[in-house]
Amino acid sequence: MKIKTKDQLRKIHESCQLLAAMFRDIQQEIGEGANLLDLDHWAQEYILRHKAKPAFKGYRDYPATLCTSLNHEVIHGIPRSRKLKKGDLLSVDCGIDLNGYISDMAMTFPIGNITPEEEKLLRVTQESLWAGIRAVKPGGRIKDISSAISRVIEPNGYGIVHDFCGHGVGFSVHEPPEVPNYVRLGPNPRLPVGLVIAIEPMVNMGTAEVTVLDDGWTVVTRDGKKSAHFEHTVAVVEEGYWVLTELVS
Ligand code: MF3
Ligand code: CO
Repeated sequence: MKIKTKDQLRKIHESCQLLAAMFRDIQQEIGEGANLLDLDHWAQEYILRHKAKPAFKGYRDYPATLCTSLNHEVIHGIPRSRKLKKGDLLSVDCGIDLNGYISDMAMTFPIGNITPEEEKLLRVTQESLWAGIRAVKPGGRIKDISSAISRVIEPNGYGIVHDFCGHGVGFSVHEPPEVPNYVRLGPNPRLPVGLVIAIEPMVNMGTAEVTVLDDGWTVVTRDGKKSAHFEHTVAVVEEGYWVLTELVS
């Protein structure tokens, strides 16, 4: 577990703020008829224009700036030529490298009208992310976050993805510790001041079962039901938590 100094936290915060601004602005581009490839290009240009680099591109040979995961795709969808349609659920995940400091954030967007059930899925997933965030405090433990997240999701009967977790972040895209979205046996480290983690519940309308497509990346639900994903980069600070990817206006 790598601890960050106050000065390093400030630099990671700058990277996170650029990422949050990117998410604010990309919403104008996301809508019916938008092509996933164009969104990826838009995001890459945005990041380069702000003197930063896409953090995912080239990471373990990932080929793009964004992960764009549609409907039953859970995470790590590789942008392809596909136009958004009414009723789609689009998860966008992105990381930025600003002067060597890495941020990570994701949101799921409804395209046009979605069903009340799908709206609820988005609401509950986002709520579980914030419950996890509020559980962050120095001296607390990883399991506090996991249990806060799962307690929001489970009463709704959704599937919590177990095969992928949140993670440490800041100096690279994935650092220890793992931050599971469910309570599991095994290591349960304390949260030291200066730890930076990405908290990222992935929630399926159906079962928790997922599989990876032949492209080696795209994670999809086995039952074909829809999925949602929200993610923030969060620092452990004396006062509790600092949501680095929450835009400071
Ligand atoms: N937020 C994603 C994750 O934690 C980042 C994926 S990075 C990729 O899994 F480059 F591998 F896509
Ligand atoms: Co992540």
